[in-house]
Amino acid sequence: MSGSFYITTPIFYVNDVPHIGHAYTEVAADVLARWHRQAGDDTWLLTGTDEHGQKIERTAAANGVTPKEWADRLVESAWKPVLETLDIANDDFIRTTDERHETAVAKFLQQLYDEGHIYEGEYEGYYCVGCEEYKQLDDLDLPEEGEFAGQYLCKIHSRPVEILKEKNYFFRMSDFEQPLLDLYESQPDFVQPDSVRNEIVQFVKQGLEDLSISRSSFDWGIKVPWDETHVVYVWFDALLNYVTATGWGSDPEQFPRRWPATHLVGKDIARFHAVIWPAMLMAAGLPVPKQVFGHGWLLVGGEKMSKSKLTGIAPSQITDVFGSDAFRYYFLSAITFGQDGSFSWEDLSARYQAELANGFGNLGSRVVAMIQKYRDGHVPDAAREAAIVDLEKTVTDAAHASIGKLAIHEALSSIARLVDALNGYVTDTQPWVLAKDPAQADRLDEVLATLHHGVGTLAVLYSPVMPQATAKLWAALGEPGSLEGQRVDRAWDRVGGGTVSALEPLFPRIELEASES
Ligand code: MSP
Repeated sequence: MSGSFYITTPIFYVNDVPHIGHAYTEVAADVLARWHRQAGDDTWLLTGTDEHGQKIERTAAANGVTPKEWADRLVESAWKPVLETLDIANDDFIRTTDERHETAVAKFLQQLYDEGHIYEGEYEGYYCVGCEEYKQLDDLDLPEEGEFAGQYLCKIHSRPVEILKEKNYFFRMSDFEQPLLDLYESQPDFVQPDSVRNEIVQFVKQGLEDLSISRSSFDWGIKVPWDETHVVYVWFDALLNYVTATGWGSDPEQFPRRWPATHLVGKDIARFHAVIWPAMLMAAGLPVPKQVFGHGWLLVGGEKMSKSKLTGIAPSQITDVFGSDAFRYYFLSAITFGQDGSFSWEDLSARYQAELANGFGNLGSRVVAMIQKYRDGHVPDAAREAAIVDLEKTVTDAAHASIGKLAIHEALSSIARLVDALNGYVTDTQPWVLAKDPAQADRLDEVLATLHHGVGTLAVLYSPVMPQATAKLWAALGEPGSLEGQRVDRAWDRVGGGTVSALEPLFPRIELEASES
């Protein structure tokens, strides 16, 4: 591919600590970034935290600290550490309280104001602080019984919404209704997957209203530059992180080098990214994002897993037991990227054992052990089995094409075909039988060279997903060159050879009951 690839995660609210739903987006974005990096693209992965607004202000107050103190505490104790827990190789981390961000947001707003895209008005309606979103009646439930009988509830948070009536500044978003519909039409993959795209198109077709972009009843936010009695609406502020982090308004070289981005977001926030955000960019005369991809939810008991519903699982609960590679592999292979998926310890454990310990891990160990035993560690310099050579190329091409359309699960199932084929090849060729017959020495050389190269190709292809295990495997395979130096889009295209060295089990056996308690 060799182009440029800028990928972002949503910036996360710091009212609480991360759960595996947040970790899911991080891991998916990191795998895509690592893949593109290793395919020679000029790659940039941005993540960060969303720190303004009423939700954070109230959480801080409830904990007896200022919002900034609260944000600092959560960023340092929870949000940055989770990136390490998950092996995320992000290029930047933006906080909406960074000066670079606050200055650029004010500049962006002033530009829109000066160009007539913003006017003063009054907002009267519903607001959900959990979502930090103005709500229409369609977005609300009105239960007849139970704790909240007779009150309007946010469908996402199942909590009562608030009624707002305040003087606000409005963005003329309605001006962009037709340009947005034209965008969805002319660039059908602008919003993906199709289920999310259809919902967005329907939403815009119903008609766009202007958007209130400031709040005057509290002050934890970026001040509106021409009227300091208002702070910028937290979503308007937050969406801008994708351009303020890459130098919009301050770095004329960096910005065009990175922008436009591919945005990975949960489907619940696709509307902000596929409607409000491109409208803001159009108003400012900037290119719209390359793509907005709305992934599905991790479900627990059939419902979106969430802290507010007390179903949140911390990523470390899983990585402490299974390791970060297994975490990354599991969520991206077990769930079709773009659809919802249910998490269960049983499924994770079963796939760990079958696909990683017995499948990929065991294959690597056996191949290294056989070369040690039968060839004293030296990889034979022999021609390789044509069918496996071909399969390495087919699988590489298929996986690379799948990553190009963000079908991560599909890429992983292509790679698994090579694991299965190599395990089948061991069973069919029975190297331990060949080793007993001196007349089969050449055949054994061929088999071992084929297996060694095939496993090396797996190490390259799996490295964006499982950086730790593949680094260990690559070192044990003893092939020339570093793992990072291998092109993932040409994983098959290596000379191979080398001298192997001992390999510990890549995915050790796990006693789930003992560790889960
Ligand atoms: N701060 C906003 C995003 C601003 S981006 C300019 C926000 N933050 S969040 O912390 O509430 O959510 C961040 C992301 O986590 C969203 O994409 C959301 O969809 C995702 N998830 C939250 N719970 C999730 C699951 N149970 N499953 C999968 N993703 C989930 O929204």
